[in-house]
Amino acid sequence: MCGIISYIGKQDALQILIKGLKCVEYRGYDSAGIAIGDEQHPFRIERSVGYIENLIKHVSPLGLKGHVGIGHTRWATHGGIFEKNAHPHVSNDKKFILVHNGVIENYAALKATLLKTGVKFYSDTDTEVLVNLIAQYYQQLEQLPTSQRFEESVRKSLAEVQGTYGIVVICTDCPNELIGVRKSSPLVLGINPDGLFLGSDVGAFSGHIENVVYLSDHEMVHIKGMDYQITDLMNGSVTSPSLETIDREQNTADLGDFPNYAKKEIFEQGTALGNMYLGRFSSDGSSAHLGGLQITPYELRQVERILLLGCGSSLYASKIGASLIETYARIPVDVEYASEFCYRNAPLNKNTLVFVVSQSGETLDTLNALREVKRKGFPTLAITNVVGSTIAREAGCGIYLHLGMEVGVAATKSFTGQVGMLALLALYLGRMRDMSFTDGRQFVQALQSLPQKVDEVLALCDKPMQKLAKTYVDYQHCFFIGRQMLYPVAIEGALKLKELSYMHAEAYPAGELKHGALALIDPSVLTIVLATNEEVMGKNISNMMEIKARHGKVIAIGLEGCEIPQKAYDEVIYLPKVYPALLPIITVLPLQLFAYYLASERKCNVDKPRNLAKSVTVE
Ligand code: AGP
Repeated sequence: MCGIISYIGKQDALQILIKGLKCVEYRGYDSAGIAIGDEQHPFRIERSVGYIENLIKHVSPLGLKGHVGIGHTRWATHGGIFEKNAHPHVSNDKKFILVHNGVIENYAALKATLLKTGVKFYSDTDTEVLVNLIAQYYQQLEQLPTSQRFEESVRKSLAEVQGTYGIVVICTDCPNELIGVRKSSPLVLGINPDGLFLGSDVGAFSGHIENVVYLSDHEMVHIKGMDYQITDLMNGSVTSPSLETIDREQNTADLGDFPNYAKKEIFEQGTALGNMYLGRFSSDGSSAHLGGLQITPYELRQVERILLLGCGSSLYASKIGASLIETYARIPVDVEYASEFCYRNAPLNKNTLVFVVSQSGETLDTLNALREVKRKGFPTLAITNVVGSTIAREAGCGIYLHLGMEVGVAATKSFTGQVGMLALLALYLGRMRDMSFTDGRQFVQALQSLPQKVDEVLALCDKPMQKLAKTYVDYQHCFFIGRQMLYPVAIEGALKLKELSYMHAEAYPAGELKHGALALIDPSVLTIVLATNEEVMGKNISNMMEIKARHGKVIAIGLEGCEIPQKAYDEVIYLPKVYPALLPIITVLPLQLFAYYLASERKCNVDKPRNLAKSVTVE
């Protein structure tokens, strides 16, 4: 979490930093700040609590000047949401200014040592410890030439730090230089003829650059004017940068006529799925073409077990993917929270193929799980949306979703995209085993028709869900229940409602409610029943009746042609019949709309829900 942008070059830094901060605001929005200056203009630091807009209002009248600058948007870890804790942080001697994304785990011990030497602290952050540590080393290294002294101070300080960091540092003695370092928190160098950029992701400087260098862990980039050198943080050896060209289109996201990204991303799901599937069906129309897998059909046939790892919505999408793979390819699949997997030393069977699933490709828990699996020598693949993300690069191979940038903090199109991709994978693996040519053809045709179906269902559900959101806006508690593949859809529906509208929501397998949670049902509790799976329709109806018998409110999401008795619900919406594998995607759409409209009724910020950030790069 936390977003970084920095610039050094021919243009005024202010506008570049502000634009960049807006682009990385999704990474955290508790506070924001910038430091700007250069050889002619002493560095000034300005910070504000809240969204970037507050910072813009604050700095607009100040006339800040300079061609060098660093900016930061914060997701609070150490220290409350106050201006004193906003970045950039400055050393006591005012020589060093620093922005940081990550967590310094041993900050308390380092702080205690610094306090003994007389350093004063003005914030509660771990970052202020680091900036003062650098200043202290700088004092000790006075025999070195200034620029080298700057670099060595950063290097020596970081050798003492445990934790994660993407940092950018200014040294006021070298006003035309910047140092950036990364360890487990992303940092990308952007290059154009007018200047050099450092950002948390390429989106931070989208529109400005085409060439980037994705820093690896333990790499330090030292920028001097228009030159830069990348070295190994530990031993200082120079590394040769691998320059990559980025697709400008991929990293921009215009709102168009939509009022916010949440709504835009919900309504572009059909198009996004269509783009994702482009070129991904085999020429005979009976299977998938997944070039990124880089595993031979022979090797895939040896796979005896699959493990899917992810967090949040990516985990719930994986749960659906697991059912799809088990159903269509008959390969057993385990799904684990990446954050738990890292620390429980799970036994893995040989011939297990591991996929990590992450929209951003930067989630630290998922990245750590990937690294743990790699350490154990298992083949790992990634399913990610962000090209060049850390997980994509470290996994070595995998599948890009190509859904376009997802800006809203709540996953919407990435969820349906991940499920849609796992369905394709199920088809691919299924065709290598027992799925017939004709069954494969049928599956492919269903996937090809999915984008249009998604558009249809969104159009069908839009107004009814808006109306239901108004009806239930004052409710405090909501259950989501579903069976089979619709149980993970229920979990996703509950997560959407929680994060977008702040309404308390919980999900249960439909049959589980009676084992305890039914005690909570009364007229003030809403239950959304996902009843689009025909084969268990009778069971779903029984569960609705049980809730109605306790005077709970029920919204039923049903399936056309499968009438639900009126006494089983308060409201109902029937979705069109689709190929069974696609039910989870179709069924989550009204839930996304319900959460979106309920949040809008409650005047919540649907793109930036409180306390959250899009990319979770802390543990
Ligand atoms: C979902 O709406 C959340 N924003 C969150 O659960 C998210 O899915 C999770 O943090 C994982 O992110 P990733 O897919 O980028 O790894």
